[in-house]
Amino acid sequence: MLLRPYRSTDAESILAIYGPVVAESSATFELEVPPLGDFKERLARIAERFPFWVAEDACGELLGYAYGTTHRERVAYQWAVETSVYVAPGAHRQGVGRALYSALLSSLAERGFVWAYGVITLPNDASVALHAACGYESFATYTAAGQKFGRWCDVHWMRYALNEARPGMAEPSFRGL
Ligand SMILES: CC(C)(COP(=O)(O)OP(=O)(O)OC[C@H]1O[C@@H](n2cnc3c(N)ncnc32)[C@H](O)[C@@H]1OP(=O)(O)O)[C@@H](O)C(=O)NCCC(=O)NCCS
Repeated sequence: MLLRPYRSTDAESILAIYGPVVAESSATFELEVPPLGDFKERLARIAERFPFWVAEDACGELLGYAYGTTHRERVAYQWAVETSVYVAPGAHRQGVGRALYSALLSSLAERGFVWAYGVITLPNDASVALHAACGYESFATYTAAGQKFGRWCDVHWMRYALNEARPGMAEPSFRGL
């Protein structure tokens, strides 16, 4: 497995992983699979400001991806990021998610962020277990936070301390890989 930064040519393979999660699961609260053009623009905006890692196999097939995004828009929140990870179903449980998160958390720490938040719609045992395996701790659950497929879902929050929150800390660096 090779880890490398996101390239715009990855968008279609990423949508092939993400689309079925939108259509079939509540792991994301997005309700409609986005058109490729819009999705590509969204990924470009993320990769411009945050680390965005992809994993591929020896044949160049995309196995998964992980990135950071804005936690909340108000500037005082800028030291916190939300992290996301998706792995192709055929590559689950082979260490891809762990490798992607390890690279992502190092990049975020290096840029001076303080908190990485994992935001997980329940039930998602694999995601909760992956976050815990990567050092995240659970700290909150929003009950009935949203509805997908006509069913109310709880959303579980986990956090990982990237850096100590020190007084007078410099702003984090917003840049891609
Ligand atoms: C969650 C997800 C990213 C995990 O990726 P993965 O590559 O399969 O995970 P890894 O193989 O790196 O697992 C690392 C550790 O996480 C835990 N883990 C991962 N999947 C697990 C599962 N299904 N059950 C229990 N523990 C699991 C284990 O501790 C595992 O270590 P081990 O295999 O040595 O026991 C993957 O299941 C996925 O893409 N799910 C669909 C999308 C999704 O839910 N994304 C998260 C949105 S919040």
